[in-house]
Amino acid sequence: MILNKILDQAHALMKKAVHEGSAVIDGTCGNGHDTLFLSNLVGDDGHVYAFDIQEQAVENTKARLKEHHRLERTTVIHDSHTHIEEHLQEDHKGMIQAAIYNLGYLPGSDKRVITKPDDTITSIQTVLKSLKKGGLVVLVVYHGHPGGKEEKDAVLDYVSSLDHRDYEVLNYSFINKDRTPPFIIAIEKNV
Ligand SMILES: C[S@@+](CC[C@H](N)C(=O)[O-])C[C@H]1O[C@@H](n2cnc3c(N)ncnc32)[C@H](O)[C@@H]1O
Repeated sequence: MILNKILDQAHALMKKAVHEGSAVIDGTCGNGHDTLFLSNLVGDDGHVYAFDIQEQAVENTKARLKEHHRLERTTVIHDSHTHIEEHLQEDHKGMIQAAIYNLGYLPGSDKRVITKPDDTITSIQTVLKSLKKGGLVVLVVYHGHPGGKEEKDAVLDYVSSLDHRDYEVLNYSFINKDRTPPFIIAIEKNV
């Protein structure tokens, strides 16, 4: 297949945005797949901040990073992504190169623990403020679960309202699939 699948496209975008030495954020680390991917992109001099509200997710992410010898370039934080700003080192404030979020619930864990519209939007707002010029936010939006439609609608409303002079906003989605396939929203900061 020529077209990138959703997760491949999310990673392709991050690969384009993130360089050695970048400071980046995984807003929903879950089992740590994206955190590990990012930690490989930022190199020895970069840093990844990874957030999750579930203790188990934090443990799973740390274990994955440890297995791949990537713990030193990451901070895994057991807190909501609404509090990102409080956890950033002073020299990383306003210097974030990229952030990724996988919205929804963590497969294989409690399906009632889902990302929530207000928290997600608060977090995106905070990250956009901390993003460098030319920085990128990627949201992978899973919305087939209870509560997913409300979050999808709220996030789409919010990102559609961003000033086009300040941000480019992309929607990458497969539009002829049955049910509710995940899709990507990518936001690039111009200013
Ligand atoms: C779809 S999963 C993420 C999957 C992950 N990217 C991976 O590679 O396994 C969504 C995660 O968001 C977390 N989450 C929900 N609300 C959150 C919040 N306010 N702050 C941080 N994480 C949150 C959930 O606990 C869950 O682990």
